[in-house]
Amino acid sequence: MSSTRNKLIELLSKNEAQYISGQLLSEQLNISRSAIWKHMNELKKDGYEIEGKAKKGYRIISYPNKISENTISWGLQTDWLGKKIVYRDSITSTQRLAHELALDGAEHGTIVIADEQTKGKGRVDRNWHSQKGKGIWMSVILRPTILPYLAPQLTLLTATVLANVIDQYAKIKPQIKWPNDILIDSRKMAGILTEMQAEQDHVLYVIVGMGININQDQSDLPDDILNKATSLRIETGQEWEMLPMIQQIIETFESKYMHYIDNGFKEVKQNWENYGFRLNERLQINSGNKRWEGLFLGIAEDGALLAKTDTGIIEKVYSGEISWF
Ligand code: BTN
Repeated sequence: MSSTRNKLIELLSKNEAQYISGQLLSEQLNISRSAIWKHMNELKKDGYEIEGKAKKGYRIISYPNKISENTISWGLQTDWLGKKIVYRDSITSTQRLAHELALDGAEHGTIVIADEQTKGKGRVDRNWHSQKGKGIWMSVILRPTILPYLAPQLTLLTATVLANVIDQYAKIKPQIKWPNDILIDSRKMAGILTEMQAEQDHVLYVIVGMGININQDQSDLPDDILNKATSLRIETGQEWEMLPMIQQIIETFESKYMHYIDNGFKEVKQNWENYGFRLNERLQINSGNKRWEGLFLGIAEDGALLAKTDTGIIEKVYSGEISWF
């Protein structure tokens, strides 16, 4: 986002109750009066309500709810995450653009976010329905200093971020279904897709994609997922503002990520297990040609599911179909 625009919003919001003259703004920002006028028009497009009065100047009346680089950046309290935000009103997939940007050298912490995805990508090549304005569709570019085999930990970390934010923001306790579906009332409200480019011992970049269903009502959900999916609105019976939630996700992500990089996986594991779906319950695992039953114990350091067989052996499960009784 342009730093002039940032300063302009800052000056306007400091003077919220009074008008600030075009002359003063132009002096403070070191740009012409007509440049100020152009910036004002851009802000209005972003949904800021700005009053301009002859001889008095400009005054901000209200801030937008609309998602944009500007509105997300405004007031965002992070050191590096979201310092660069790429917003589109419509896009095929934020994940796809994030890959292009990362290959082009985009910096660690760059965020790609859109109102709508026309070809949202889910795990295992599934489609991710991303209707305009109904949810948060966002990809984060990371360049972590971890070994490639530890990258699944980032997916688990992201799941804890989403669970924490939903819990705090909407006062509703979600559950994380291994490895990373966010459920409310046993239905999926959010999903995470982590993709990585790496060399043998070096991560080039990781893209963490988050899809969070916020304001869909029942009729917005496509038939194929109707019984399996939900949204925050369906669960709480009210519409939710997305902007503060996006900011909270970005801020929580940065702080949990830094804690993880500095202190390791322990807290992520605890946090994940605090929200773990059907922890300590019996489950059935179908992996390849092996089918067995056991007790779901939690997650291992490497992101594997830990289950105890009936003969008392603790097994790690990396992939497979998991079902509960
Ligand atoms: C899943 O299948 O559970 C993962 C869904 C991930 C969807 C998000 S939405 C933002 C980002 N862009 C995409 O195309 N997919 C991810």
